[in-house]
Amino acid sequence: MTREEALDSVRANVENENLVKHMLATEAIMRALARRFGEDEEEWGLTGLLHDIDVELTEDDMSTHSKLGADLVRELGASEKMAHAVLCHNEAHGISRETMLDKALFCADPLTGLVIAGALVRPDKKLAGLEAKSVKKRFKEKSFAAGANREQIALCSELGLELDEFIELGLEAMKGIARSLGL
Ligand SMILES: [Fe+2]
Repeated sequence: MTREEALDSVRANVENENLVKHMLATEAIMRALARRFGEDEEEWGLTGLLHDIDVELTEDDMSTHSKLGADLVRELGASEKMAHAVLCHNEAHGISRETMLDKALFCADPLTGLVIAGALVRPDKKLAGLEAKSVKKRFKEKSFAAGANREQIALCSELGLELDEFIELGLEAMKGIARSLGL
């Protein structure tokens, strides 16, 4: 599967542009994490890009979300390892995170929302001027972007990453695709 095929499939299944942007942002963070750990950047990036492909098909039904997604990514030719990461990123199934890929996707997913919200409250609504220290400050404000699960972000510790480094890495990765994110 090429990246273009993966993105085409995402666009074929997800109409909401904000959800597509969330998946692009997750891809960017996953690529940066793969580089950080010397892992397969394509594998990690495509897993991030595809991870919520079923989100509109399952209509917020957490009992099916990511199960259908795992099936869809398998059909697209993704490896079992990638499908497993997609499957276990939804905790509702009670499937444990085993690989570094599983753990990376789990903590990268909510970081995107925190960073996007951090950009949107800036006067210019742009990522470029957003500093890691302000994202770290926002991290501690529980009511800010409350949907961005802080405990889940903090599980970057499962990768052996300090929270500060993870936030910096995620922010820089998203700045790299700011134009695609409309930020
Ligand atoms: Fe997600």
